[in-house]
Amino acid sequence: MNEVLSTIAARRSHRAYEQTQLTQEQIDILLKAGMDSPSAVNRQPWHFTVVQNQDLLREINKAVWEETMKATPENRSARFNDPAFDVFYHAPTVIFISCDRENYWGQLDSGIACQNICLAAESLGLGTVILGMPRAAFQNEKGSDFRKALLFPETHDFAIAVAVGTPADDKPAHLHAKDRISYVR
Ligand SMILES: Cc1cc2nc3c(=O)[nH]c(=O)nc-3n(C[C@H](O)[C@H](O)[C@H](O)COP(=O)(O)O)c2cc1C
Repeated sequence: MNEVLSTIAARRSHRAYEQTQLTQEQIDILLKAGMDSPSAVNRQPWHFTVVQNQDLLREINKAVWEETMKATPENRSARFNDPAFDVFYHAPTVIFISCDRENYWGQLDSGIACQNICLAAESLGLGTVILGMPRAAFQNEKGSDFRKALLFPETHDFAIAVAVGTPADDKPAHLHAKDRISYVR
């Protein structure tokens, strides 16, 4: 094991956070890690929006709820059975990654940048959880308001978000699914 491998192995999703805010130095390190990511043809089709405005996160959470409750219970996450469920887990900071909708690899590139941020956070002793659920807020009638409030460039759509903070939970690593590796030699 070296430091990179142990950081990869130690990362897991955290779904409860202390309210301690990240320092600007920590945020800068996370954003640098995101921007250090590879991207197809080096297009860097991403945009990072660091959100610490809890009122805005509450509004987005509400819109996610509105959209998600349109689905039947079997077609939505069981997390929505808890009326107190917050899609951002009350994290002090959420980084939204939006990407150029015309870029063929934009979503994939954004996912790679997202994982770089998660690993950088882990290396700083911070916790993260990757968040796809906020996507529903952009399907809501308030979607274009959120795009503006989050300062997405006009050409960009939501790709993924990452909640970051000091973890207030502890969780074992996920088990590896079986039969996910083949060799052709
Ligand atoms: C693309 C993507 C979207 C995800 N969206 C959510 C989400 O909206 N809410 C959530 O609690 N976890 C979300 N997760 C976290 C996964 O549930 C988690 O990575 C998985 O259960 C494995 O657990 P681990 O991260 O602790 O290893 C997402 C993960 C990925 C990669």
